[in-house]
Amino acid sequence: MSKPMPLVAGNWKMHGLRSSVGELARLAEGLAGISLQGRCEVMICPPATLLAQFADQSAGTLVRIGAQNCHAEISGAHTGELAAEMLADAGASAIIVGHSERRREQGETSGDVAAKAAAAHRAGLSAIVCVGETQGEREAGRTLAVVTEQLSRSLPDGARPANSIIAYEPVWAIGSGLTPGPGDIAEVHRAIRTLLTGRMGEEEGGSVRILYGGSVKPANASQLMAIANVDGALVGGASLKASDMLGIVAAYAR
Ligand code: PGA
Repeated sequence: MSKPMPLVAGNWKMHGLRSSVGELARLAEGLAGISLQGRCEVMICPPATLLAQFADQSAGTLVRIGAQNCHAEISGAHTGELAAEMLADAGASAIIVGHSERRREQGETSGDVAAKAAAAHRAGLSAIVCVGETQGEREAGRTLAVVTEQLSRSLPDGARPANSIIAYEPVWAIGSGLTPGPGDIAEVHRAIRTLLTGRMGEEEGGSVRILYGGSVKPANASQLMAIANVDGALVGGASLKASDMLGIVAAYAR
């Protein structure tokens, strides 16, 4: 079984203006300066308003561009929504679906997330499917049950290593500076791997990338990325600064 190519993806959330393109340029420049080729992929998911500009600016660099959400349908009377095909047209190569902030603030269910992931696939894009337990669920000893149920309901039928990436993000670790211990992360990633191999078989299920997300910083990246079945990171706050992103990516540099 081939080990998946790691991915470090930055989720800018609701941050960034057209003037933020300089940060993207600094990231691309920094990546060109470290010997990373073939060891790790890097992605920035800016707000939708910046997608096309960022995609144009990053053409020919090592940075790929992703979106943070999509509508499940291809077109229609859905004021304010964006179809996966529109995001692909703007230059996205992936779409984050089911981030816990959307599950919480927009009431997205795992069924909604599966439909959005299927929409990403329909548009020829990868879906970055997010799952994770709340603090209460962890304290109640329900982490593995919650994460595996979320994932099994959030992954559409056509999910394959080439079009699907999983992000395990404990809700309580997002933006808090807290992270689970390495053993706890390993346990959840192993359960996710088992679910994936059960669904897709050893070869395919073993090749799907499973990212860890939640307070990933340059200072903890090497330790987190060394955990078994951690194939990269989904980074929030620290992805807004090129220097921090580069510090995280450095976990994979020679
Ligand atoms: P954080 O966010 O890195 O700021 O904790 C992670 C995320 O929400 O993807």
